[in-house]
Amino acid sequence: MSEAEPMVDEFDTVAWWTASAVEELGEDHALPAACRGSGSPAGLDWLATSMGLEPGMRLLDSGAGVGGPAEYVARGYGVRPVLAEPMEGACRAAVRLFDHPTTVADGLRLPFADETFDAAWSLGVLCTIEDKRTYLEELRRSVVPGGAVGLLVYTRGVESLPDQPEGNSFPSRSELLDHLAATGLTVVAETPLADVPATPDDWDQAATEVEQVVERDHRDDERWQRAESQQETIVGLIRDELVVGLLLTCRRSDTATPR
Ligand SMILES: C[S@@+](CC[C@H](N)C(=O)[O-])C[C@H]1O[C@@H](n2cnc3c(N)ncnc32)[C@H](O)[C@@H]1O
Repeated sequence: MSEAEPMVDEFDTVAWWTASAVEELGEDHALPAACRGSGSPAGLDWLATSMGLEPGMRLLDSGAGVGGPAEYVARGYGVRPVLAEPMEGACRAAVRLFDHPTTVADGLRLPFADETFDAAWSLGVLCTIEDKRTYLEELRRSVVPGGAVGLLVYTRGVESLPDQPEGNSFPSRSELLDHLAATGLTVVAETPLADVPATPDDWDQAATEVEQVVERDHRDDERWQRAESQQETIVGLIRDELVVGLLLTCRRSDTATPR
């Protein structure tokens, strides 16, 4: 089974269904529903501020999902996002909802020349990837020297987890820091996601309404059931503090520590 296969239901099929549900409920539901995978708006603000995002900057979102976070910073900070995402259904959903430049691409082999972007971010993606160093090296390669790389990483707070969603491998914080140092990404700011304000109630409500429409239309479909089960597993791990969300801002340094 390929690394991506267990995640197709959640990140491809359900992503496309999400865009259809937003169309039924109205445009005001798009941003909350499309940001569901990435923590709170306050978390995105924390990253945008510590990364120094400014109007006109070119931002790569690697593993962009349905594109909510990219749209959030385009609206709030005037950046020009480019989305890269391996799941075609998620890409089609992102274009349907927000219409930023979007490419179907694996973060392990990004189709961009060196130093194409002023900054890059990756939200909730690293734990879905085995070869974390290659993925981080691609982020580093894509930004200009000194460019900011923002990360939301779900880290393992214990030695071994009782259960984990298929296709996920959560690094410990110290493994993550080793990967960053080896890749030539210097951490300049870090905070637990739990320490930034939670998602506002009206956002939660809008995202829940979208999920309810998807469930209404697809609950008998085994792809929805598998995605739901994956989702319940990760939510349980976070609730029990076995998995901890970390926000980090890094800068591309001149050199990487050799492997
Ligand atoms: C939890 S979702 C987060 C989506 C989005 N970043 C957000 O915060 O809303 C994880 C995303 O990582 C993507 N992903 C999985 N493997 C990837 C890879 N090799 N390269 C880039 N993205 C990948 C998935 O398709 C999915 O869209």
